[in-house]
This record gives sequence, structure tokens and C-alpha cells, in this order.
Amino acid sequence: MHSTEVAVFAALVALPVAGVAADDAALRQDALARFGVIEAVPEATVLRPDVKLGQALFWDERLSANGQTACASCHLPEDWGADRRRFSPDARGRNTARHSQTVFNATLQPTLRWTGDRTSAAHQAERSLTGSMGFDSPEAVVPLLRRLGYEADFQAAFPQEAEPVSPGNYGKAIQAYEETLITPAPFDRYLSGEDDALSVEQKEGLRVFSQVGCGDCHRGPLLGGRGLRRFGVEKDYWIATGSERKDPGLFESTQVESDRYRFRVSMLRNVARTGPYFHDGSVSDLEEAVQVMADVQLGDRLPEAQARAIVAFLESLTGEVPPHYRKPGARLVLIEFKEGELPQGPPESAKVPRTAMLEWGSAAGLVLASEKPDLLPYQTFLVFQKSAGPPGAP
Ligand code: HEC
Ligand code: HEC
Repeated sequence: MHSTEVAVFAALVALPVAGVAADDAALRQDALARFGVIEAVPEATVLRPDVKLGQALFWDERLSANGQTACASCHLPEDWGADRRRFSPDARGRNTARHSQTVFNATLQPTLRWTGDRTSAAHQAERSLTGSMGFDSPEAVVPLLRRLGYEADFQAAFPQEAEPVSPGNYGKAIQAYEETLITPAPFDRYLSGEDDALSVEQKEGLRVFSQVGCGDCHRGPLLGGRGLRRFGVEKDYWIATGSERKDPGLFESTQVESDRYRFRVSMLRNVARTGPYFHDGSVSDLEEAVQVMADVQLGDRLPEAQARAIVAFLESLTGEVPPHYRKPGARLVLIEFKEGELPQGPPESAKVPRTAMLEWGSAAGLVLASEKPDLLPYQTFLVFQKSAGPPGAP
């Protein structure tokens, strides 16, 4: 007598489950068509001589006009390869004109920088010598490299060359290093078939992201990074961002009127960790940045729940800080503390350069630290004891 009831009951239970599965399949299929997976480089690559040389160059403050500015000074590990400051001081003591972008995954983009005016990471690094690093000419770094004992490393990295120490090879080695800074994230696991890699809200965010039109510009495996578009399609961007300066974008270099306010569509990999946002770092909150985008690119702000879901989705693009994103041989600084017993004054280790990076558990320890605003001054130095694990860890 109960058999039909049981059958109906089973069908009712089964239906939503089948619906979710079908939903997931459709959502994934759509996402695979628009976006795409990124993959970490094999560990062996990190040990290649050119990559190791690039790592050393990237982190060496001495290779700058003031002897204190490394690439990593403005591309910080605790900021996922970007810089939490709106602008960053260069080796001449001047602030950069635009906000520092993350170097993670950057080499997967066809062109670099806010207006896509560098065609390769090698080109970008070489140009930095007379830019951020403050030298009068790119060649000025050559005697310095020799004096600091880099010659053998250049020889190992470029064995077929008679005179390997050159600005060109400086750029190539740095590019080789940057190509290893790829950060797969939960989103990649989701695309690869792991339904649970995204939460229900994150899936909703992914759906909204595509539905409202974000994905029309932010496409490909990086969710952006290619193509230049006007910032402010529907209205002037500075009204929404409160920017002090009306940066003309690509127009500055081309003087072509249609290039006014054109910027590269930002990639969104790790975006939840690389604020403040936009070329001038004018917006510090990610949800607000999403609303600014909806407002000026699509014509209206989103209902709050949708904006929040998009932010949740963007969180799924956060990968781990690569373990070799640190100064080679950086000194370890241990500060131990328990939850609720946070250190008060600046620790002894505050003398350690900002770029001296953490040896262990970089991502876990750092996420934890950056979520405690009172610890911000210390967070570069926070390393939790390996055996004990970070406070609150299982
Ligand atoms: C003084 C701070 C500073 C220093 C030092 C610095 N950068 Fe940058 N970096 C920036 C800023 C700011 C931008 C964005 C510039 C722009 O588009 O106008 C940037 C952009 C980049 C990009 C482009 C990222 C993208 O998504 O297009 C790469 C790659 C990069 N830097 C690598 C390096 C390397 C390699 C060095 C060392 C040779 C270096 N940076 C030194 C501040 C700095
Ligand atoms: C018409 C193309 C276009 C559309 C549509 C669009 N964006 Fe953007 N997005 C851009 C461009 C261009 C930039 C870079 C703006 C600048 O110069 O600061 C950007 C920047 C961003 C940034 C800041 C990234 C950073 O690192 O500073 C976020 C976040 C973002 N977009 C999210 C979204 C979301 C969410 C949507 C949908 C609500 C969206 N975008 C719709 C073109 C677009």
C-alpha cells in the first residue's frame, strides 16, 4: 500500500538533486566556454638555472639606483604579488603613476601593464631598470651585477653565450621566473569537475557574473588580462571611484581620441587579495569595486545579494602564494603567539627587510595575519612555528 507513496517520495527527493547536478553541468559547461583552467608549473622548472637567477634578481634590493628597491618591494608576497599601497615609492623616491599589479599569472597575458604597453615580461623587466629601479641607462646594471658576483649565475643560465651579463638576459631571467608564478585556485578545481570546490554562493556568483555581462569583458582563463576597453562605458569612471585624477589611459601614449580612458581589462585571478582596485587604487573594498564596474560598465549598480555573490565567486580565484615567491635563502623570523595574546609593540624582527619572506605555510599564515588589522605592521614577519602550526589551525 505504501509503494506508490514511497515512489513519489523518492522522486521528490531525487528531483532537486538531479536538478542541481544538471545545473552544475550547465554552469560548468558555460564557464569552460568563457573562462578556463590554469595549471601550476612542474616543480622541476623552479630549479632551472635561468629561473633561479630570475628569482635572485627579482628579490635583490641592491640592483637599483638607491640600493634599496627590488622588484619585490612593490610586488609583495603578503599582497599576492601586488601592493596594498595605492602607489608605490620607486628608487628615485617618487610614487608610481599607477597602482602596482600582481606579477602572479601576469605572463599569461598577451601584453602587460594597465595600458598593455609592454609586449613581454622580459621587455617589462628591462624597461624597469630605467623606470622603477632608477638607473640612467639599462647598461648601468651590468657592472653592478658583476660586482655582486652574478656572472657565474648568468653563465649557468645562458651557457651558449660568450657575454651573458646583459640587460637583455636580466629581463629574460626575470621572465623565466615570473612564468613559474602560476596560481591555480578552487575555481580551476571546479572547472576540472570537482563540484564541491565552489560553495553554493560562489556558484551563484559565477552565474551572476556571466549573466549580467561581467564575463563579456573578463574572459579567458585569467578572467580578463586581454584586450583594452574603455573604463566608463556608461558614465565617467571618476564619478563612481572618486578618483582625483582623470587618467586618460591609452590616450596618453597614442593621442588618439578613441583611446581616451581605455585600459586593459584587468585579470581577476587573486583579485580578492590584490586591492586596492583600479589603475589608481581608488577603491579599497572589493564589493564596492564590483559595484563600480556594474555601474560604469553596465549601467547600474547590482542588488546587494548579487554583488556579494560575485565577491564570493571572486574569492574562488585566490590561489596560494608560490613557495618560491621569496628571497632566496631569506632569513626565518619566528614570532610565536597564541590567539588572543597578540604581540603589542613592534617585534625585534621589524629590522628585517620587508622582502624577507616567510619560509613556511606562507599562504595560511599570511591570510590569517591579514585578517587581523592590528597585526598589519607585523605581517611580513609573521611565521608560525612549524610544529605548532598557525593559531587556530587544526
Ligand atoms: C616602485 C614600485 C615598483 C617596482 C620597484 C617594480 N614594479 Fe612592477 N609594477 C609597478 C607598477 C606601479 C605597475 C603598473 C605600471 C603601469 O601599468 O603603469 C607594475 C607592473 C608590473 C608588471 C605588469 C603586470 C601586469 O599584469 O601587466 C610586471 C610583470 C611587473 N611590474 C614586474 C616587475 C619587475 C620584474 C620588477 C623589477 C625589475 C618590477 N616590476 C619593479 C610597480 C613596481
Ligand atoms: C566593458 C568591459 C568591462 C565589463 C563589462 C566589466 N569590466 Fe571589470 N574591468 C574592465 C576594465 C577595462 C578594468 C580596468 C579599469 C581600470 O583601469 O582601473 C576592469 C577592472 C575590474 C576590476 C578591478 C581589478 C583590479 O585589479 O583593480 C574588477 C574587480 C572588475 N573589473 C570586476 C568586474 C565585474 C564584477 C564586472 C561585472 C559587474 C565587470 N568587471 C564588468 C572592463 C570591464
